[in-house]
Amino acid sequence: MKFGKSLYIILASVKVLLINADKVSFKVLAINGTPFVTVNGQQYEMTLEEYPLYKAKVEVDKFPVEYNYNIVYADGSSEQESFSRKREKEEKSLNEFFNRSQTVIEHPQVPKAYQPFEFYEPSKLYDDTHVSTIIINVDNQLLQQMYQNPTDQELKANAVVVYASPYSVKTFNNAILSISGQSTRGVPKLSYKLKNLKSDDNKELFNRSSIKLRAEHMDPSFLRDKIYGDILNSLGVPAAQNKFARVFINGQPVGLFDLSDDITSGRYLRETFNKGEKYTQENPIFKADYCPSCGIGAVYSDLGYYGEDINEPMYAVYSYKGDDNTTPSMTHVANEIIPLVREINAYANYQTETMSFDIDTFLKYMAVEFLAGAIDNYWNKPGNYFLYKDVAKGKWYFHDADFHFSFGVGGEPDLMINTPLSDYPPIHDPKVDKARPPLDAILSRPENKARFTQIFDRLLKTSFHTGSLYSRIDSFVELIYEDAQWDYSIPRVSQLVGQHDTELNYNFDDFLTHVTSTQEVSRFETVPLKYFIRNKIALVSQELGIQVPEQYETDLGMVENPSQKASVSSFSGTSRSLSMVVFSSFMAMFISYILF
Ligand SMILES: *[C@@H]1O[C@H](CO)[C@@H](O)[C@H](O)[C@H]1NC(C)=O
Ligand SMILES: *[C@@H]1O[C@H](CO)[C@@H](O)[C@H](O)[C@H]1NC(C)=O
Repeated sequence: MKFGKSLYIILASVKVLLINADKVSFKVLAINGTPFVTVNGQQYEMTLEEYPLYKAKVEVDKFPVEYNYNIVYADGSSEQESFSRKREKEEKSLNEFFNRSQTVIEHPQVPKAYQPFEFYEPSKLYDDTHVSTIIINVDNQLLQQMYQNPTDQELKANAVVVYASPYSVKTFNNAILSISGQSTRGVPKLSYKLKNLKSDDNKELFNRSSIKLRAEHMDPSFLRDKIYGDILNSLGVPAAQNKFARVFINGQPVGLFDLSDDITSGRYLRETFNKGEKYTQENPIFKADYCPSCGIGAVYSDLGYYGEDINEPMYAVYSYKGDDNTTPSMTHVANEIIPLVREINAYANYQTETMSFDIDTFLKYMAVEFLAGAIDNYWNKPGNYFLYKDVAKGKWYFHDADFHFSFGVGGEPDLMINTPLSDYPPIHDPKVDKARPPLDAILSRPENKARFTQIFDRLLKTSFHTGSLYSRIDSFVELIYEDAQWDYSIPRVSQLVGQHDTELNYNFDDFLTHVTSTQEVSRFETVPLKYFIRNKIALVSQELGIQVPEQYETDLGMVENPSQKASVSSFSGTSRSLSMVVFSSFMAMFISYILF
């Protein structure tokens, strides 16, 4: 049929033409001002989807699309991204962040040294392939009060918190902001805690209701807490998780932070120690401190047994942080900590061969303290950790915390690198005894000592290997360098009179040195990350006679990233507009009608 055939050809070419024009969505997170997207040289308006996410759909007829964003501020000034973005046809549209060229980077994963802790449930919050954006809004007067008195632990502010990632935006209208930390309350860049993260439909932030935003003031690389956490994850110990976040408060930039777990939060504890299942009993948790120059004398939490008297000063460093707010902390220490250290003491004296104190996680934590040179943690300075009792399982867990003083930061880098295992810890304060009662007792049994050596052996062959850690560091640097540069350019908010560590005026060059150099070049009695790692591996492998393989071993596979990608609805960035789809299927019907 002559007529039908030529009509078919005409219709078919119309169809091809229409399909070639795709609608592509562009999504950008903009804190202030109004964003526009420029696609193939032409500028388009964007509409607010849900603050701070703006969106535009643009018809595009060829891929890859070249585009970028610009922002027009309220005062009429504007700013254009200095780089060009690119999108392939099959790529989904993600929430991009204005002025950051990197949105998602799939990092090389760390090989597992051991299987994960059996009761640990990963949270998608800790998808670390992107930098999250955290926007906090609070009463400005209260905020200024917090900046003026960051050491006041009672100050809190009701907050509206927005969490934005490349995949989603979540708003929490009833959150609570406070300043976080102990000694870090006195430094120029403050750390924060956000509690009560429950959305209006009662959903938490990926199974977390409380988080910390750690300033990493002491760490010019921002990476030490993160890399330390990666090594702990490779060991499968229950541990606080870390990822990066850029933070804004009341529209002002405050910097790049390590978003981490609030260890005493019940939500964290049950996800980490109980597969997310609600506990039926109250489980005690204690913070343990180190205070060699305290008014009551040199006190520190070495987990030693100092008799049955609760007034013994060495018991004053344990403070109860659990949910029971009717019983005084001291009573909890008397009822729970004294029986624990008594039991450790009985084990040390060979009166018992078992303990409720979990040996496996403790030894793994100690191995990393040594390898990473954790100068401010239990083995070196007995303090800065938590003790958690899972009552139903009849187990006490040592839970280490705060690793920003590691890998050659926090003082004495030479001692921290060069002190051999046989001589560890390098004594710092003559008022602090070198004994570490549970560790000494555990290692006095040959089978445990062999197990400890085996942990080092596994670590050096898997995650604590330059092949693994260097490439991981490089990948994180690619992800955060723009945010690090930004961080160093913004003023610090603390108004405290008599701040400390103000001389640690790190800058972006320090960042670069600390993350790239394998040499001993840096300021303020610190050494670069890779320099520390390389030297530590050389010394420990020699001391323990461990043959470090050229290529790390992956027999147990890699630590998995809890990707948020899978949780996104099947929304696709590139879609044909509805009218076109209807039109082309209508044509298909028409064609079949005239042909048959
Ligand atoms: C955008 O990035 C450039 C280069 O890093 C920087 O100079 C500029 O201040 C940034 N602008 C904003 C609004 O962040
Ligand atoms: C929250 O935890 C439950 C198990 O406790 C898990 O099945 C779920 O995937 C978690 N959700 C997220 C978003 O991580």
